[in-house]
Amino acid sequence: MVRRGCQQNFVWFCRAGRPVKKRELEVGTRFTLKASREDLGEGLMAYILGIETSCDETSAAIVADGTRVLADVVASQIELHQRYGGVVPELASRQHLENLPVVVEAALQESGIRLGDVGAVAVTYGPGLIGALLVGVSFAKAVALARQVPLVAVHHTVAHAYGCWLEYGGLPLPAVCLIVSGGHTSLLYWQSHEHLRILGTTRDDAAGEAFDKVARLLGLPYPGGAALERLARQGDPAAIRFPRAWLEPASLDFSFSGIKTSVSNYLKAHPDASRADVAASFQAAVVDVLVGKTIMAARQEQVRSIVLAGGVAANSHLRQRLAAAAGESAFAFFAPRPEFCTDNAAMVASAGFYRLQRGQVAGLNLEASSCPVLEI
Ligand code: KG4
Ligand code: ZN
Repeated sequence: MVRRGCQQNFVWFCRAGRPVKKRELEVGTRFTLKASREDLGEGLMAYILGIETSCDETSAAIVADGTRVLADVVASQIELHQRYGGVVPELASRQHLENLPVVVEAALQESGIRLGDVGAVAVTYGPGLIGALLVGVSFAKAVALARQVPLVAVHHTVAHAYGCWLEYGGLPLPAVCLIVSGGHTSLLYWQSHEHLRILGTTRDDAAGEAFDKVARLLGLPYPGGAALERLARQGDPAAIRFPRAWLEPASLDFSFSGIKTSVSNYLKAHPDASRADVAASFQAAVVDVLVGKTIMAARQEQVRSIVLAGGVAANSHLRQRLAAAAGESAFAFFAPRPEFCTDNAAMVASAGFYRLQRGQVAGLNLEASSCPVLEI
């Protein structure tokens, strides 16, 4: 079975190679065309059809002017994958293939617009599960070709940041964004729609992946993040001192595989330990590092706001701790409601809108990529 995760995928694809370096994520990609305002026509002020199929959620959305969500339909595959304890890539791809046309139709109906009114199609091209991404990218190309509208390629991590933009109808920039999900953990510096770069990323497991793995050790069902948080509410966060991986001084990278091993070793050595104490102590350790590094990044970059997004942003302990720490250092704090934290196509459409405004249109040779460079 394959677990999701950009870092994970990258390592598999580079067995003989070396681990990913942060700077490599900042180089531009090949497939983008620069379109003029005349070429874009309706697309510039348009309804954008967003498509998201990077992991186990099939989603389509219609967003107007980058911030007005007219429809955001999500078909979750959690039930399908639950019995395997993780996402099974081939099943995910097949399910996307089946669900995507239905979800797109539902989004059009809910928004009250026709396919002919769509001015552009924005699609997640990576990072994610390659077979799953291919379904969304192929579908988006077909719509763009048939309707003769621009195709816009959206990086999934960037889309998560726009989930927050959508929620608030804009944000005070520059901002530092902590994007924490099952597949990625990244700190981004977000200066403007034209300038966004990676400050740090996970060197191994993503934060959500660590939550899911520890939840499994505690006998909780997949995906375990929310269940672990509920269990942690009954436990003592100071009961066990799990390690905090701060890495080198001033490093804004993360590492969560060590703590998962510590929890596993602890449970073997203390089979009668309180599961709630283990959950609370694990959560406290992960949140300490996430909050500490985000504040360090925000001070270093002298930003106005801190933005929290991605599936793990639904964790109320993380939200509260980061909001409090941001407040103490006089940074504004923003986190979207849970449905804009987890994977959805509205955030893809929003990110696509601003990309389109800059004339960043993808060719029909757009490739899906499990771990693409970050291009803005
Ligand atoms: O963004 P998302 O929906 O999908 C990916 O792009 O990966 O994030 C899903 C991840 C899962 O690992 C899930 O366990 C985690 O978000 N998650 C949580 C909570 N709710 C979801 N982790 C911790 N606490 C939560 N309340
Ligand atoms: Zn995601």
